Amino acid sequence: VHGVPPSLSAKVVGSFAYLTVRDRLPTILTKVIDTIHRNKNKFFEEYGEEGIQAEKQTIGLLSKMRNELQTDKPVLELTDSLQDTECWNQYLQRQQKMHGDEDSVSWFKSPWLYVECYMYRRVHEALWLNPPISDYDVFNEGKTQSFFESQQAMITLCTYLEGVNKNMEELSKNELHEHFNKLLQVSLWGNKCDLSISAGQDNSQKTSPIDSLNSLQPFILVNDSNMVWSTLLSAQRPGQSEKTAAVRVDIVLDNSGFELFTDLVLADFLVSSHLANEVHFHGKSIPWFVSDVTANDFQWTIRQTTAANHKWMSKTGVQWKSHLKEGAWSYHDHPFWTTPHEFCDMEADAPDLYATLQGADLVLFKGDLNYRKLTGDREWDHAVGFDTALRGFGPAPLCSLRTLKANVQVGLQPGQGEKLGSQDPDWMTSSKYAVIQFSSSKCE
Ligand code: F6P
Ligand code: MG
Repeated sequence: VHGVPPSLSAKVVGSFAYLTVRDRLPTILTKVIDTIHRNKNKFFEEYGEEGIQAEKQTIGLLSKMRNELQTDKPVLELTDSLQDTECWNQYLQRQQKMHGDEDSVSWFKSPWLYVECYMYRRVHEALWLNPPISDYDVFNEGKTQSFFESQQAMITLCTYLEGVNKNMEELSKNELHEHFNKLLQVSLWGNKCDLSISAGQDNSQKTSPIDSLNSLQPFILVNDSNMVWSTLLSAQRPGQSEKTAAVRVDIVLDNSGFELFTDLVLADFLVSSHLANEVHFHGKSIPWFVSDVTANDFQWTIRQTTAANHKWMSKTGVQWKSHLKEGAWSYHDHPFWTTPHEFCDMEADAPDLYATLQGADLVLFKGDLNYRKLTGDREWDHAVGFDTALRGFGPAPLCSLRTLKANVQVGLQPGQGEKLGSQDPDWMTSSKYAVIQFSSSKCE
């Protein structure tokens, strides 16, 4: 039996968690405040005086929160009454009980994963309490901008996809495998493009996503893609009725913009090659970690792709629309994804979602935050097995596609983490390194 290490926390002065809470989160909040202020006229045009009032009050609430954060005040209960409010407040009460004192559940002293999720939930609360603008997505501008800035790379991908789809019937198994590996890696590196690590800057893809794969190869610290491939192959059930034979891949999405595009390209390939018959996408139900995908972003991205001013890109978009229409693709969200809970709690806290994922033949978890939740965002030894860190979470065979942006990494060779740390002190947070890490969900 393995002991469970402590959570990463900003209480460790100098740690990445500490720097995030001290510097990055207030920067993100300041940008949120600026964005709302910049849109004052728009709110006035839409809602008149009420819009102006809402702008003022929302900014007031957000500045107050920024101050609570910066002065390490206790974490407060939520005051809205949404579906998940009770759940957040109960979580806080449990923590307070555990520590026996309200003040110790503060911004710097609590688990990093918890306070960071809580900040985004409080942003949502501040807007929600001001009805005319409660649906306003403060991160929308950044997300759409990052989409447009990556256009050239998207065109490259669509052109590649067109080439693959055109010859699909003639491809040998090896060729199919090779395309799969490439598109899996494109989706992996797509995770470099998130807006929260850079506090909203420098997040688009400028170089060719296919040509750069070779030179990126040495930075993949764990590459279990062969196991992902064999999982897909062994899920094929020829000779059975269409319904029971359907192979389903679920993708737990991370960021909008270029990363989402790479996920859609991969999903298109899976369906067009018949490696999968269905792809279920899972997104967030509120704006989250700056760039995460919401239902709106998902629909918008597909609409933009159909409307692109490039032959293969717009053709790809039309194809994606028909995947959705015909049910080969579907989009889902669930409030669990925007709680601070580790995934090992999913079975108890969101049994319906757990049961849903059990219906998949393979679940791909995109990005850093999902990795933190898979491993509980804890101070694991780097050589501990991925299965150990999952602590029993395993609704289906799963794979994390993640570039490293936080101080948690398991499943390395003994000594590998230490060696990397001595060569490159930022190896865990720079998103220069990545993992394709698989678990078959068979308990150890
Ligand atoms: O700031 C916390 C964090 O989880 C980082 O680890 C990472 O920079 C970012 O937020 C989210 O990254 P991703 O979009 O890959 O989940
Ligand atoms: Mg993200």
